[in-house]
Amino acid sequence: MSEIEPAPDRGPDTAALRRALGCFVTGVAVVTTRDAGGVPHGFTANSFTSVSLDPPLVLVCVGREVEGLEVYRECEGFAVNMLADSQRTISETFAADLPDRFAGVRWREGKYGSPILDGCIACLECAPWQRIEAGDHLVLIGRVLAFERSPDRPLVFCQGRYVSLSGERAGIVRDDARAVRPAP
Ligand SMILES: Cc1cc2nc3c(=O)[nH]c(=O)nc-3n(C[C@H](O)[C@H](O)[C@H](O)COP(=O)(O)O)c2cc1C
Repeated sequence: MSEIEPAPDRGPDTAALRRALGCFVTGVAVVTTRDAGGVPHGFTANSFTSVSLDPPLVLVCVGREVEGLEVYRECEGFAVNMLADSQRTISETFAADLPDRFAGVRWREGKYGSPILDGCIACLECAPWQRIEAGDHLVLIGRVLAFERSPDRPLVFCQGRYVSLSGERAGIVRDDARAVRPAP
């Protein structure tokens, strides 16, 4: 295992650090909200994590480059839409530089006003609980107000690529395209 040593006058090798962090397997979500004018905003995120059950808290990290960062700094509510295996295109859409990421995407207004995307495996509607400026991200902690889920399989992301979970016993496809053998 190689160590990442910061040079005296420079930070750590960001690209190498990003690759190391990318070894952690995650799901993929689209975090949505609406601005003061009611316009929907959303971006693809895999920094989602659960924080607490009592009270029910979750967090997501919003990068400085994210469209509408100011909206997330001020929003009164947001939703975490966890994507299904079949929603890779949605993930790409909400990470792309598009004038309207919601064009052609089926969604509805949630009970608390945030956009809820059709076909997700789970959706959480949240009220902001705490906002923490941390380096080049805003850590947005939300209290879960409402949630729903479906039994579909999740979209999975690891080492910079989408990974398919084809059934309980299937393995993860590795970089070299060999499958890890499922347990007998
Ligand atoms: C799988 C995946 C996960 C991502 N996770 C995050 C995340 O957790 N936080 C974040 O700020 N950006 C994340 N991004 C990047 C944003 O979706 C993307 O940079 C942003 O939507 C681009 O916004 P812009 O076009 O407005 O610059 C992720 C992108 C992908 C494809």
